[in-house]
Amino acid sequence: MEQKMKDYKRILVSAALPYANGPLHIGHLSGCYIPADIYVRYQRAQKRDIKFVGGSDEHGVPITIRAMKEGITPQQVVDKYHALIKESLEQMGISFDIYSRTSNKVHHETASAFFKKLYDEGLFEEKETEQFYDEKAKTFLADRYIVGTCPICGNPNAYGDQCERCGSSLSPEILINPRSTLSDAVPVKRKTTHWYFPLQQYESWLKEWIIEGHKEWKNNVYGQCKSWLDNGLQSRAMTRDSNWGIKVPLPNTEGKVLYVWFDAPIGYISATKELTPDWADYWCREDTKLVHFIGKDNIVFHCIIFPAMLKAHGNFVLPDNVPANEFLNIEGEKVSTSRNWAVWVDEYVKDFPGCEDALRYVLCANAPETKDNDFTWKDFQERNNSELVAIFGNFVNRAFVLMHKLCNGKVPPLHNEILDTTDKAIIRDIEDAKTKVENLLEEYKFREALFEVIDLSRKGNKYLQEKEPWKKAANKPGAITSIDDQKQIDNCLHICLQLTANLAILINPFLPNTAKKMLHLMKVVDKILDWQNAGKLKLLSVGYSLRPPELLFRKIEDAEIAAQVEKLHKNATKPNQNSTVEEKKTVVEEPKAEIQYDDFAKLDLRTGKILAAEKVEKADKLLKLEIDLGTEKRIIVSGIALHFKPEEIIGKQVVVVANLAPRKMRGIESNGMILMAENSEGKLFFVNPDNEIEAGATVS
Ligand code: MF3
Ligand code: ZN
Repeated sequence: MEQKMKDYKRILVSAALPYANGPLHIGHLSGCYIPADIYVRYQRAQKRDIKFVGGSDEHGVPITIRAMKEGITPQQVVDKYHALIKESLEQMGISFDIYSRTSNKVHHETASAFFKKLYDEGLFEEKETEQFYDEKAKTFLADRYIVGTCPICGNPNAYGDQCERCGSSLSPEILINPRSTLSDAVPVKRKTTHWYFPLQQYESWLKEWIIEGHKEWKNNVYGQCKSWLDNGLQSRAMTRDSNWGIKVPLPNTEGKVLYVWFDAPIGYISATKELTPDWADYWCREDTKLVHFIGKDNIVFHCIIFPAMLKAHGNFVLPDNVPANEFLNIEGEKVSTSRNWAVWVDEYVKDFPGCEDALRYVLCANAPETKDNDFTWKDFQERNNSELVAIFGNFVNRAFVLMHKLCNGKVPPLHNEILDTTDKAIIRDIEDAKTKVENLLEEYKFREALFEVIDLSRKGNKYLQEKEPWKKAANKPGAITSIDDQKQIDNCLHICLQLTANLAILINPFLPNTAKKMLHLMKVVDKILDWQNAGKLKLLSVGYSLRPPELLFRKIEDAEIAAQVEKLHKNATKPNQNSTVEEKKTVVEEPKAEIQYDDFAKLDLRTGKILAAEKVEKADKLLKLEIDLGTEKRIIVSGIALHFKPEEIIGKQVVVVANLAPRKMRGIESNGMILMAENSEGKLFFVNPDNEIEAGATVS
């Protein structure tokens, strides 16, 4: 059974190594990076010995496929995306102690030595099988590298493992006219030898360890493990024929590398080695608590295969918990990187500078902890505006405004003798919040923990509303507040300010930038954020003067949300050389809800003419257009650059939404939007009057 925290001397936290084959999207953040970071920040505030390791997963087929698509080498792929992912993680405040990469020397050595030890101890089975081979490219072919006609639907470009048109799962043998994507050669079968790890030999041990020993794991994790174990385990090849990866450390194995799922989790060990000479304390001592944060597609690897590898190797600790999250869908549809149906973190950071905590907040509040969840921009806006701004931010702001108005900008004294039941109740709430949040965090219940924090600020607002300290202050010119009234005011604001300090401590693991801002307002040092300070009423000294109020969060406007939704749809439907019927099907938009004429009449639609068009620097999708609207000329930034060359659209008639609130894109203010129609292949067409008409004519 799970050991209680006090039995552990140190904690090692890992977050799944993302494939360095594309940018980071918010599904990655909500799946594992944000929960891992909250947990780590909380444990650091508890002053526990904790290390947080991660890095990029730079081997495997996904990388080589991306290299092929982009026409560059796998090394160039991983260099590009490792840098991009690392930057996005930093910008979102994911506070790794080390963010490494599996192309590192330390990792190659560590993974090779791991493999060699299992090999030397005779723990692998060596098996010869037949695999497809490309005689022109002189290489074995993973199923994904073979294409041909789907025997089920006739799609001429089905993959060896799956047809993306009809969704059937295939095998290269049944493709009609199979060919290699590398050279177009017809694949032939060739014998090849690989090393298999006999998972079935670890089955009974795994059953005891997980099914009996880890009943406390999350239902989704425990359930998946149980079904794997109930179905019976089989040997798995731990090597592959490829030129990209960690070379098999055995003689005469040219062209063979370690299977990416063999090497990648060992990356956690390599990263710890790189981080500290004391790495073995974290990996080899029973009193280390190892926790893997992952997404649900990684469960079998982290709960079954890697632990079996660790067990076979010996000397290593096993995970105490693997709190995997389910998936986060976007606007009701599954994330698809190939269809570009995703919210990319690097773009969010550019579009919403200074709002990193808002995204952290929403992704935690809406985390797919027990089931798949949906991210919608509308929900993002609502949570930001009605929870962060209207509850948490509002409370802190009111406390500061009132303290400056009614207490000369200083922390007022607390007059214990006149504390009433309302005061006492909120003081108890402050004490209780600490315990509640702490227990929930220890159990990986991040959403609930966050709601407790927000709830405490909600109670703060309610307390202020009940106390109405502003009504006790004399407000006629020259009048003086009575001593008794001033005491009431003092107590109320003393409590509100101490509550604010508590909120800073409690929110810190979730929203570290916000906690920093609060420290600045209160003019106190980081030390205040130590978890042990929470629950107390003595964090700010009486008489201490605090800074004037500043807003902690900003409102997110409708126009910003509309622009994001538009961007998501526009980018997703762009023509894609891999697009298939199946992908297109999901692109067809649902009919929208009924509206009234008045809703429609709010739109000021006008005809216009494109006078000038140019590409927007560093934004491959945007064109900056100058539009003649008859009475005026407008600059409109439009996401059509992948569809039209600037020179070919000059002189075109367009229909413009003329009263759309202005919005900045890549530093350029866009004043309106042009209407486009889109066909089922994602091709765009201008919406136009059917004859030449003067600019500025109304459209209704
Ligand atoms: N790269 C894998 C993925 O994105 C995760 C690897 S986690 C590790 O699904 F443990 F193998 F590192
Ligand atoms: Zn098919």
